[in-house]
Amino acid sequence: MVTETAPFTTCGLPSLSSLVFGGHDTVDCPLPKRAEHLADGGVLPHGLPSAVHAELVAADREIRPGGPPPGDTGRTQDQWIDVFAADIRDFVRRQDLAGAVVINVASTEPAPTDGSLPPSSLYAAAALRAGCPYVNFTPSTGLHHPALAPLAASSGLPYAGRDGKTGQTLLRSVLGPMFLQRALAVRAWSGTNLLGGGDGAALADPAAAAAKNAGKERVLADTLGTTPEGEVHIDDVPALGDWKTAWDHIAFDGFLGARMVLQTTWQGCDSSLAAPLVLDLARLTVRARQKGLTGPLSELGFYFKDPVGDGPSSLAEQYTELRHFAGRLRDDATAPEAHR
Ligand SMILES: NC(=O)c1ccc[n+]([C@@H]2O[C@H](COP(=O)([O-])OP(=O)(O)OC[C@H]3O[C@@H](n4cnc5c(N)ncnc54)[C@H](O)[C@@H]3O)[C@@H](O)[C@H]2O)c1
Repeated sequence: MVTETAPFTTCGLPSLSSLVFGGHDTVDCPLPKRAEHLADGGVLPHGLPSAVHAELVAADREIRPGGPPPGDTGRTQDQWIDVFAADIRDFVRRQDLAGAVVINVASTEPAPTDGSLPPSSLYAAAALRAGCPYVNFTPSTGLHHPALAPLAASSGLPYAGRDGKTGQTLLRSVLGPMFLQRALAVRAWSGTNLLGGGDGAALADPAAAAAKNAGKERVLADTLGTTPEGEVHIDDVPALGDWKTAWDHIAFDGFLGARMVLQTTWQGCDSSLAAPLVLDLARLTVRARQKGLTGPLSELGFYFKDPVGDGPSSLAEQYTELRHFAGRLRDDATAPEAHR
């Protein structure tokens, strides 16, 4: 975890052992069973699910029914927001928590085509209504819905997003600046992803995949200053489970137009790439709230494909911003100036 490395261990983040988990889900497969499934797939060490069985059961008890079901007419949007906000407040009260943060890690939704609020936006509004910071780890709309802009602005709460940067885009945000800084003109940048798991199934829907790919392409446009030819494709391969392969093919020109190609192969495990980032974001955002920071946390762009606010797009610059951010989170007592 990035927040367990040197610059971040002295900025007053909540300890890992103090974290308590709850949430909403639309399916009720128990967490211990999901953990066993991850261990069978080689994502978690064997024996770990049974070692933390009690903790998983406790978190499972804090999962409330998600929603709304497709085509639901039983409640208005505002009533759904109230239900979710009440669940969040109950959780905070029952667990006697000093603070809570709501993080969207639900399946990718297609971008909405009418003015209504998609589920991710209902949860985002509920987070703010319950007085909690909000983080969108997915490409779904969340707080980006125009109808929520006034609420986001007036809530006095910090928020961050969108879409965790864990694989292909992470690599792109490192390689893009390299081509630019070395004055190597990129002619085309094409990518293909093979993935299984729930994300693979959700992204088999072209509308959901379009929401995902927009973020990947934005990183190239921002780091190269131009939009190269080429597309990103996502194929659902259920047999791969949690493991993902991403190929990039980058055609570029060298001195006097010499034509060259860089190809990369990324083979990663989605859950183990994403989980530490989600924990980092929970700790950083809760601490930001404690320190009275409000509005879009653009300094967390290090973690996202399509970051809120105005920040740099290259990973190296984003890391510098994150370190500055950590400095703002320190208690005066532990700030370097205070020791002098
Ligand atoms: N490396 C990564 O894993 C990674 C990186 C960046 C972004 N993401 C994003 O994170 C999200 C989750 O990815 P995943 O691989 O864990 O997917 P997953 O399919 O394994 O899990 C999604 C969960 O969301 C639940 N869900 C669906 N609709 C819901 C709703 N309306 N309310 C509450 N819960 C709902 C599903 O039941 C499921 O438990 C996706 O949007 C994905 O694009 C993941």
